[in-house]
This record gives sequence, C-alpha cells and structure tokens, in this order.
Amino acid sequence: MKGCEQGARYLVHGGTRLAGKVRVSGAKNSALKLMAASLLAPSTSVLHNVPDIQDVRTMKEVLEHLGAHVQFGESTMTVHAGAVDSQEAPYELVQKMRASIQIMGPLVARFGRAKVALPGGCNLGPRKIDFHLKGLAQLGATIRQDHGFIEVSAKRLRGDSIFLDYPSVGATENLMMAAVLAEGVTVIENAAREPEIVDLSKFLMSMGAEIEGAGTPTVTIRGVEAMDSAEHTVIGDRIEAGTFLVAGAISGGDVEVEGISPHVLEIFLKKLRAVGAQVQENSKSIRAGGDPATYVGTDIATLPYPGFATDLQAQMMALLSVARGPSIVTENVFESRFVFVDELVRLGAEIKVAGHHAVVNGGRALTGATVRCSDLRAGAALVLAGMAAEGVTEVRDIFHVDRGYERFEEKLTALGASVERVY
Ligand code: UD1
Repeated sequence: MKGCEQGARYLVHGGTRLAGKVRVSGAKNSALKLMAASLLAPSTSVLHNVPDIQDVRTMKEVLEHLGAHVQFGESTMTVHAGAVDSQEAPYELVQKMRASIQIMGPLVARFGRAKVALPGGCNLGPRKIDFHLKGLAQLGATIRQDHGFIEVSAKRLRGDSIFLDYPSVGATENLMMAAVLAEGVTVIENAAREPEIVDLSKFLMSMGAEIEGAGTPTVTIRGVEAMDSAEHTVIGDRIEAGTFLVAGAISGGDVEVEGISPHVLEIFLKKLRAVGAQVQENSKSIRAGGDPATYVGTDIATLPYPGFATDLQAQMMALLSVARGPSIVTENVFESRFVFVDELVRLGAEIKVAGHHAVVNGGRALTGATVRCSDLRAGAALVLAGMAAEGVTEVRDIFHVDRGYERFEEKLTALGASVERVY
C-alpha cells in the first residue's frame, strides 16, 4: 500500500467523466471484526478478500501485540492465534482505531480477561462504549476503569438476555464474540442487522459457534466449550460500492461496480434514482451514471441497517450539492458527522446545518479549492465533489481515506478520473 503519511494529499482535476468497471474490495467493517474473532480459537484461521487498508494494518498490529502471528498478502490473511499470550491493547494502537475495542469480547471469552485503552478513531463526536460494557457485565464480567484503560474479567461468561437500547453494530459484534464461549444461552435483542453482522456470524459458526438470527433484531447464541480454526471469505464493501456509484453519477459517467449484490444497498439505490441517476441492478454488480444537469434534490435520513447508511451520507451530500433544488439531510447515527460540510461549502456548495439536519440548496456550480478531510467518508466525499468541480481541488489529510479505501486513486484513475496523490 502506498503511504498514509500525514502530509499526503490528492490533487483532483474536475470535469472528467468516469466510465467502466470497478471491483469492490472486502468490507473493512467486516474484515476488522473477523480478525478479532480469530482470537477465539487457539489455532490458525484464514481470511480471504481482506482489503489492504490502514485500519486492517492497525488491527494486524493489535493482534501481533497480543502475541498472534499474522501473515498478510494478496488479500489473504492467516492468523495463528495459538501463540496469543497477552490480553492488553495499549493506547498507541487503540487511539489509532476505535474498532480495536472489538478484541474485548473474544479475549474475555477465551482468556477470562481483556484490558483495552479507551478508544479514539474517526472524528465523529464522543463515541461511547457503554452498550458494550453493560452487555459484558450482564454476561457476568467485572468491569474496571482505571488510568484510561477498561479491564474486563470473568472466570467464564454466563449467557443472559441482553436488550440493546440502540442497535449498535460494534456492541452487537462484541457481545456475539463474547457469548460464543459463554455457559448457556445468550439472546441479544434489538441487535444491529448490518450485513457485516451476518458475515461475522457465518465465520463464528464455521469456527464452531451456535448462532441463530444474525441479520434480524434477535440473535441467539448457544455457548460452546471451544472454538476451532476456520477459513472464510470477507463480503464485498457496500460503502466502497456506494462511493463508486456516486462517482459514476456525479461525473455524468457510467460506472459498473462488481462484487456487490444490490440488496445490501437497497435504500441507497432508491435515493440515487430519486436524484435522477440511472441505476441498473444485476445479481452481483450495480451500474450507475446519468446527466447531472437533470438531477434534482431529495431528502435522506441516516438510520441503522437497512436504513440509509451513515457511512454514505457525506458522499450523497456531495451529489445533492450538484442536484438542482433543496434537499434535507438528517444524520441520526453520529452527532458530529456534518463537520465536513464547511469544506464542501469551500467548493461552492450551499449548505446550512441546523443540529442534525443539513439543508442543501443544490445546483450551484462547484469550483476547485483546498479542502481538508475530517474523517474517512468525508474524505471520499470531497474527492467526489472535486471530480464535479471546475479546476483543481486539493484534498488534504488523506490519511483518513487510506484507513478505509484500498487503492482509491488507482481505482478512480482506471475509471477515467484525474486523482493524483502528492506529498
Ligand atoms: C460501525 C462502523 C461505522 C458505521 C457505524 C454505524 C465499524 C468499524 N464501524 O461503527 O463505520 O458508521 O457502525 O453503521 O464497523 N453508541 C453508544 N454506546 C455504545 C455504542 C454506540 O452510545 O456503546 C452510539 C454511538 O456513539 C453512535 C451510535 O451508537 O452514535 C452508533 O454506533 P455503532 O452502531 O456502535 O457504530 P460503530 O460500531 O462504532
């Protein structure tokens, strides 16, 4: 992977039309959890279709810090978790990536103990972990917070009925991974239903877990005595797919995204059509394009799956900026996810934010400017807006983009975009 240095930035030359096929990589939000899940077995797990992105490299470092031997190349990762001899994740690693907290569940389940620094990660407001901790406590774990660390311990976890106040993706996953080795049955109510939860459940079941209902609001886990190694292929990244579909639409092009089934993007595709983009759904690919001069505004509201994904809100906002007329974007998942709006405004977009609503007065011509990424998806959105802007857009702090998009500029360039990484 090319560098993720603080100083790296993109120069985006606007006005090129994107056309052709692009294949999505494995889903970041699945791969990271599968890597954590591999800690559950004292043996060797093999994961295919793992994206070579910075967050995966950070999770690899976390696993290695715990004592695991990890090999990674050509999209395949082998995790030898038999050698794990530590249950502590230090601040230096956890602050780089919030998903590091997903090791808590598997470690406490297998070793009876996990000690993890309080997380950092994307700049999306105070992201709490109370649901994770409350759920682990219900499974019988003792939780101690001390000097910036959370320590979770239990001789053996005991199954229980857990109701999540909100269908948190991370909490559902952490609790599933904890419950697979618990004594008795765990029922998670109001569980998250994201496709990545289903992927995790499939991997856990191939390791020997007994799970029912993943992908529905009620997940039932019957604890087993031990987990074994397994081999699994990570699902395609639906957020990366959505990003390239917006690229096709915003550039007035015609882009076919392969390696993704349309049903995981149903609401998003409805909204693309509502804007006026042409969308074609095939069994394992989706094609999008159109003529921006004909696009009109539409309202979107982010929600847990199957609602409109918060991780596609920024990219959609870029598209709504060029669509004629008003749009209201409501962010219901992360409170600080409008930080990037000021940057879109620098490119000429007209957007007013009021609380968790943003009103876009679309159809203004965008012009190139220097902008800064505030988080991963905001970074992708600024590149998309830059492609629709006249002149050159300099997108700074693209280390955020490197966290989650594999070979982003290479894939865009192959479709005809002019996106250059400079230092
Ligand atoms: C995951 C995804 C992220 C995506 C998000 C929502 C990964 C690595 N990240 O994040 O890309 O945007 O799902 O689809 O998979 N919350 C609490 N207490 C908790 C846990 C969460 O209050 O204990 C709140 C959060 O602050 C947030 C909301 O619940 O406002 C959703 O968070 P959650 O679903 O847990 O998202 P993540 O798992 O962090």
